[in-house]
Amino acid sequence: MAEPVTEAATGTVVEAVVDETLAPVVDLHPTAADVPAAFPDEVTDDEVPLPAVPRETPAPRAPERFPRPTETRIMTIANQKGGVGKTTTAVNLASALSAAGLKVLVLDLDPQGNASTALGIDHHAGVPGMYEVLVEGKPLQDVVQKCDEAPDLWCAPATVDLAGAEIELVSMVARESRLQRAVAKYFKGLQQAGERRVDYVLIDCPPSLGLLTINAFVAAPEVLIPIQCEYYALEGLSQLLSNIELIQEHLNPDLAVTTILLTMYDGRTRLAAQVVEEVRHHFGEQVLRSLVPRSVRISEAPSHGQTVMAYDPLSSGALAYLEAAREMAQRGVQETPTPAGDAGVGSAPAVADPWARWTDGLVTRRGFASKEGGA
Ligand SMILES: Nc1ncnc2c1ncn2[C@@H]1O[C@H](COP(=O)(O)OP(=O)(O)O)[C@@H](O)[C@H]1O
Ligand SMILES: [Mg+2]
Repeated sequence: MAEPVTEAATGTVVEAVVDETLAPVVDLHPTAADVPAAFPDEVTDDEVPLPAVPRETPAPRAPERFPRPTETRIMTIANQKGGVGKTTTAVNLASALSAAGLKVLVLDLDPQGNASTALGIDHHAGVPGMYEVLVEGKPLQDVVQKCDEAPDLWCAPATVDLAGAEIELVSMVARESRLQRAVAKYFKGLQQAGERRVDYVLIDCPPSLGLLTINAFVAAPEVLIPIQCEYYALEGLSQLLSNIELIQEHLNPDLAVTTILLTMYDGRTRLAAQVVEEVRHHFGEQVLRSLVPRSVRISEAPSHGQTVMAYDPLSSGALAYLEAAREMAQRGVQETPTPAGDAGVGSAPAVADPWARWTDGLVTRRGFASKEGGA
């Protein structure tokens, strides 16, 4: 049913109609509404035809170079909820970082193999991938494939076999640290061969907290959590954070949530703005300033075997991921990952006792998630 039309809305509709019927119209007196916002506040603004008003030249597609991190950053992209943008975030950040001159490796740990698909990497049954690495001990070197989309972008694919790994790993020796060993061996091999060091390893996790995700938490010092700007998005976060805390206590003391990215932001809903505010309030510096809008271009890209960075580099989604990648790269230099025993530099106060702060926040987050409400 059509919604009642407000006065303001009527004004907008009339303008739009006038623009179309009297085209070509060049509005020499753009109103505030014509000026693009700092981040898009319209859903899928990609699809709205550009107005005839001359705009500023859009940002060029990254001849820009991002700084290399002080040492290889290994980041697990985790959230046990499905459909929050883990895979999309992994492949688009990877592509953006690589386009800006960095060497990036994506490890596809989700048996669905969505990251492999989005990067155009062959992952049909029988192709060696992360199953062979984790269960059979095959060197990572032997399964990694070059991705054509960006200059130095690599991917270790996931095939359907990986679904069995979750169970097969249960009875295996060192079942939680098999990925860590494989990655360490791979790095050593690159070093011995005199090859370029990997700058970023991004691990795309399945939507569960099983042994595959645990292997990722053990292999990586950093966790990146994508949070969808929607109702219930914060539910389950407390479970994720307490699992991370358990891993930190027992298996990987260096583990920390360093980055949170808000995804699928829909500027038309008050709820999305509330989620952003709540997450920023409780997580502070960990939250990237860049917000990824909900965009049809982002969801179309995988069906072309591409990331949105390649599919439509000037779309709002691609620009948001580029900005997120830039922020991450800048942090990688300022906030040198602290090796064990190092006093720490950069944002030391934020990292010193992250758990107390987040545990405090959880009470409110639960309250928020169960609140009546919405836009
Ligand atoms: N910003 C976005 N705008 C629109 N669609 C998106 C966006 N991010 C992800 N999607 C789509 O939502 C679905 C779930 O995203 P995905 O990255 O696969 O989530 P996950 O890996 O957490 O399950 C996919 O179809 C993806 O194309
Ligand atoms: Mg996924």
